[in-house]
Amino acid sequence: MKMKLLDKITGTIISGVVIAIVIAQGTDLSGANAANSLIIWIHVLAGVLWIGLLYYFNFVQVPSVAEANADESGPGPAAISKYVAPRALLWFRWAALLTWISGAAFLLHNGNLGDAFELGMRTGNSYATTIGIGAWMGTIMLFNVWILIWPNQKKVLGIVDATPEEKAKGARIAFLASRTNTMLSIPMLMSMVGAGHGFFM
Ligand code: HEM
Repeated sequence: MKMKLLDKITGTIISGVVIAIVIAQGTDLSGANAANSLIIWIHVLAGVLWIGLLYYFNFVQVPSVAEANADESGPGPAAISKYVAPRALLWFRWAALLTWISGAAFLLHNGNLGDAFELGMRTGNSYATTIGIGAWMGTIMLFNVWILIWPNQKKVLGIVDATPEEKAKGARIAFLASRTNTMLSIPMLMSMVGAGHGFFM
């Protein structure tokens, strides 16, 4: 069977969206908050893409590059640096931004944006405290992606010119920022899912 539709990533994504729309048609939508459902759907999709790639970097790419560097008779990590890392970083950084924007849009839509970023301290709203802790962690993580990881990775990958010393320093900063995000992702996700599922309330 020819599966032309799935040959391209755009066709694959569109197919998934179509299936979702078909399912939504068959669902009793009375009482559903369509805007909330749509925003959170986009938010979780973008979040999975972002954190999925973060975990790919930390669990797969970093140890693989180290192994390739140590393997003197092997092909080295050039293919990863040239073909894989730039594309992974492209999806990674834009998914990070979309995750933040859609998360903030959800809070804005429900009138909780200010309260969440104030951690519910003025209102005593425990939902705002829970989601606010996650939102602040996500904000720090977005900063790490755009301000620490991406500019330094551009030096490491040779997308911008840098001396060997600048590359080594950049690699260290990007690595530590990426590790920080991996660490923060664990409590961040606890707060994210917790806010809507009654944890700590
Ligand atoms: C750092 C990456 C992030 C990931 C992976 C992520 C992921 C998630 C997940 C899985 C949920 C659970 C949805 C549910 O339980 O129904 C969620 C909910 C939510 N997230 Fe995030 N999120 C991230 C960052 C952010 C940021 C930065 C903000 C705010 C600016 C935010 C705001 C929200 C809101 C408002 C909810 C809905 C909570 C509710 O059910 O009322 N998220 N997020």
